[in-house]
Amino acid sequence: MKKQRLFTGLQPSGNLHIGNYFGVLQPFLNLYPKYDSFLMVADYHSLTSSHDSQSLRENTLNIVRDYLAVGVDPEEVTIFRQSDNPDHTELAWILNCMVTVPFLQQGHAYKDKVAKGMEPNAGLFTYPMLQAADIALYDTDVVPVGEDQRQHLEYTREAVSKFNRTYGEIIKKPETIIMGAVGVVPGTDGQKMSKSYKNTVPLFGSKEEIEESVMRIITDSEGDIPETVLALHKLFKPEGELTDLYESNKGRYGDLKKALAHDINSFIEPMREKKKSITDADIVDVLEKGAQKAKEVSSQTMSQVRSAIGLNLI
Ligand code: ADP
Ligand code: TRP
Repeated sequence: MKKQRLFTGLQPSGNLHIGNYFGVLQPFLNLYPKYDSFLMVADYHSLTSSHDSQSLRENTLNIVRDYLAVGVDPEEVTIFRQSDNPDHTELAWILNCMVTVPFLQQGHAYKDKVAKGMEPNAGLFTYPMLQAADIALYDTDVVPVGEDQRQHLEYTREAVSKFNRTYGEIIKKPETIIMGAVGVVPGTDGQKMSKSYKNTVPLFGSKEEIEESVMRIITDSEGDIPETVLALHKLFKPEGELTDLYESNKGRYGDLKKALAHDINSFIEPMREKKKSITDADIVDVLEKGAQKAKEVSSQTMSQVRSAIGLNLI
């Protein structure tokens, strides 16, 4: 039986932390083999928030390297870069013409930036239609994303419906899969782990960096069992194996932290080694092959879309 199509995208920004790993990477690793999967680096989306060319280059190589290092198999998944396929910007324009300004004004990402007094660029405003185009091009059945992307998927479904009502049923309406059943991974200060709170444990950190971040976990005014230490530990070891350790080390926060750092390091070590072995040339090769495959699929959608909107003259 033909597999359903899965499509998801990532912005090439910064270093991943273990919150990202358990929130989205691990669920993606479990999900993608069941589908014909496409993984896109959303480099054009990242232009809405940064204009630093050197970091775009570095972050793009880095995010692909990270995904390969955690175990995404490029033979199984089509990994490609948005900017390598001009169909994305073309369809985004067409979808922009299907939705209204007040509709886009309700976008969370856009509203947040306006509320913070930042000057939102026009790309940020139309961001959801570029995302809708990404998804629509690949006859997508399911889109796995983190909770923060829920609204963008609603925008996609709305734009697709409007297109189909206007021009006929051309584009498949995708289903959203919200990943992150593990819930929110806490950071070293007990709040949600997030790069913007500087409370992360880096996913590819060295042994020393992991130890350093674990030692920073705030344990003031906690009882016998340091909550955040245990919550993180449960991600790396089955609860059954932890009961004895935490019972016999009641109140000894330092020892428990050392045990946690050790277990995080054992988990990360193989991925860290794999990451080191992946060259820039390997990445360019993966992206080139991916772009070719992506274009084969998206060009079929575009030819239907172009005739539906009246671009086929004869
Ligand atoms: P950050 O908050 O560090 O900026 P991002 O917004 O780049 O993280 O998150 C990328 C994805 O990782 C999101 O889809 C989100 O669902 C997931 N994620 C981020 N932080 C956590 C966390 N602490 N726990 C679980 N999932 C997370
Ligand atoms: N906006 C998504 C994010 O910031 C990235 C993204 C771009 C995406 N295009 C997509 C996600 C298409 C899913 C499908 O995380």
